[in-house]
Order: sequence, then C-alpha cells, then structure tokens
Amino acid sequence: GGGGEVTNYAFPFEGPFGSYDTQQLQRGLQVYTEICSACHGLQYLSFRNLSDQGGPELPEEQMRAYAETFEVWDPTLFDGEGDWRPAAPQDRFPMSQLATAPDLSLMAKSRAGFSGPYGTGLAQFFNGMGGPEYIASLMTGYVEEPECALESDPMDGYYNIAFAAGGLPETCYYPDGTPRVPGSYISMAPPLYGDDVEYADGAPADLESVSKDVAAFLMWTAEPKLNARKEAGLTGVIFLTVLSVLLYLTNKRLWAPHK
Ligand code: HEM
Repeated sequence: GGGGEVTNYAFPFEGPFGSYDTQQLQRGLQVYTEICSACHGLQYLSFRNLSDQGGPELPEEQMRAYAETFEVWDPTLFDGEGDWRPAAPQDRFPMSQLATAPDLSLMAKSRAGFSGPYGTGLAQFFNGMGGPEYIASLMTGYVEEPECALESDPMDGYYNIAFAAGGLPETCYYPDGTPRVPGSYISMAPPLYGDDVEYADGAPADLESVSKDVAAFLMWTAEPKLNARKEAGLTGVIFLTVLSVLLYLTNKRLWAPHK
C-alpha cells in the first residue's frame, strides 16, 4: 500500500505538561465497549486498572459491575473441569473476538503517525509519536476509492487514506514503485460514523470527537503510567533547576576570597 495520511489531532496528554483527561478516557472506554469490543480484544488490560489513578478512574463498585458484564473461562471451577463465570477485577479483558482483528492494548504505541528520520525531534517531543493520531485518523479516514483504483479490478475491503499497510492495485503505483495516492484497502468496515454512542457527560459525539475519545483511551491502555511519568519528570526538572541555582551561588561564594 501507499503512505498514510495522518491528521495531527490535539490531545490533552501531549507535551511535557500534558495529562490524560479522565472524562475523555471514560468516553473512550464506552466507545470501545459498545463498538470495538465486538471484534477487538484488550488482552493486556485488567479490569481493576479501570480504577487506577491516571486512568478512567472508575469508582470501585462501577469497575466491578463493569467486569461482571464479561464472562471468563475459569479452569479451577467445576472440580477442575472448568466453567464460565462473571469476570472479576483481577481478570483480563477478553482477546479479540474476530481472529483477523488485532488486539488493541498496545496499538497506540505500535503505530506511529508522523515519526520519521527527518527534523530535530522537537515535533515528537511536543506531539508524541502520533499513535493516537493514527488511530483517530484511521476512524475518520474512510473515503471514496481514488480514480486510479477504479481503473483496475475491484479490490476487497474499504478505502482508507490513513491505512498504509493494505492492498493497492497496480494502477495506483508509479513505474518506479512509489504509490500515487495515500492510503490503501483495509478489511475493517468503518466502525464509526458519528452519533454512535450517547455520552452521559453531554460531550459531543460527532465522528471526530468519538474517534479522538477512543484513540485517547487506547493511548492510556498502551501507556497507563503517562501521568505519573510526566509528573515525576517535571519534579525532576524543577529539582535540578533549583539545585543548579544553589550550586552556582555556592560556587561563587566559595571562590570569592581567591579572586
Ligand atoms: C484493524 C481500531 C472496530 C475489525 C484495526 C486497527 C485499528 C482498529 C487501530 C489496526 C490498523 C492497523 O493495522 O494499522 C478499531 C477501533 C474500533 C474498531 C478503534 C472501534 C471504534 C472494529 C470492528 C471490527 C473490526 C467492530 C469488526 C466488525 C478489524 C479488522 C482489522 C482491524 C478485521 C484488520 C484490518 C486489516 O488489516 O485489513 N482496527 N477497530 N474493527 N479491525 Fe478494527
């Protein structure tokens, strides 16, 4: 396929001072639950993590009730023969229900929207690697297939300008092998159209907002300690700044008599 076209959506967790927005993570969890979980798993996430600081921060009772809506296979039940039971906080989310749909736990870190060998790296410092931007762009990236694709036999799937890893017909390549158009065919049907969910907090549910919410949630599943990491980093920078000033003054005073 060709290159992907990724929109640089803004997220509250970007930059050195960014942090997750609890409400947004809760909305993203809702989108995942009501739509994505039909096909995609989150096998590295435990239900209890939904109550962790710096995450969706579901109240304990709500998290337990949420877990109980899932069934897990417990091999210790029924005299060792195993049986199904409602999931408990320590259980993991299910694996993908559809074999061809990848697990989404780490997806936001395994895809990059706009990293590259060029530039100073400052863009990455302020905007991240673009994993969540890529996911949101994938949700909003379903478009009509390009002219070049109509010149050859129809391909299976749906055209998506953010998706670079899929099939693209010969007619969409230049003779030197570079693609003439961004995007390629993906086998996932458009999962979101806008107004797919009803948010309890009254936040907008248009396609772009819902896409960003689920992308933010998937960033959290892939990097659950982002808030703590940034806080520790900031504390470190402030500490070192203060220490530098004190050392500078100490140094001046110690050497003053010998000038
Ligand atoms: C692939 C997200 C809903 C089926 C993917 C990928 C992402 C994703 C990030 C990986 C793309 C890549 O490889 O770069 C989501 C989100 C959903 C959602 C956020 C909910 C809003 C669904 C649903 C289905 C589905 C409901 C099934 C009906 C698939 C399949 C693939 C895929 C089959 C593999 C596509 C390919 O490699 O051609 N999805 N998805 N997804 N998804 Fe979804």
